[in-house]
Amino acid sequence: MSLDWLYGFDELNAYRLDTKTGKERLEAQVKNLPGLLNLAGIVLPKKPRILCLMAGSCIEGIAFAKVYDADVTCVDLQERLLSKGLREAKKRKLKLRVIRGDVREPSELVGGKFDLVTVLGQPLPHIAIFDLDQTISGVKKLLAKNGTFLIDQSDLIFRILPQYKDAMTHNLEPPSLQYSP
Ligand SMILES: C[S@@+](CC[C@H](N)C(=O)[O-])C[C@H]1O[C@@H](n2cnc3c(N)ncnc32)[C@H](O)[C@@H]1O
Repeated sequence: MSLDWLYGFDELNAYRLDTKTGKERLEAQVKNLPGLLNLAGIVLPKKPRILCLMAGSCIEGIAFAKVYDADVTCVDLQERLLSKGLREAKKRKLKLRVIRGDVREPSELVGGKFDLVTVLGQPLPHIAIFDLDQTISGVKKLLAKNGTFLIDQSDLIFRILPQYKDAMTHNLEPPSLQYSP
């Protein structure tokens, strides 16, 4: 199953900037980013350098560039999605570049230091836990002094873990299985 094929489904329109829901998501991010960063206690310097990993069609990247006058780098595996973001950023005269690559080795893909590195938009189902560990180690090398790594885990907390609730060891009444030959 290719990512390109998967992201062609209407159900994932919200991740494509050239769709109505994609555009609505962008506007929502422009409106909500300051509140989100405020809530997370993140204070950005002027003209921050921001690296958006697993950036898709650069929806959060464009929002950061617009709201914070940021210098944004977007990384994703899908060339086609990245090019949609790049086109829109050029139209809006925003500082945004794109890099096609695998986030498991972020420091192999980009150089320099960033004030903020993000993994946003519920992308965790794409990446195995050990790969995420590796990504986080790589991100450490890319953070500027006082830089921040912001990662969206709402999918893990609200959608994925509840599906496994009966298998969790802390469950007070775990299911008990008996084998009778
Ligand atoms: C749920 S989408 C989120 C996109 C974007 N952050 C947003 O909110 O619109 C997840 C993205 O992760 C990308 N992706 C998956 N595995 C990746 C990897 N190993 N390296 C880079 N990008 C990856 C997919 O191509 C997809 O665009």
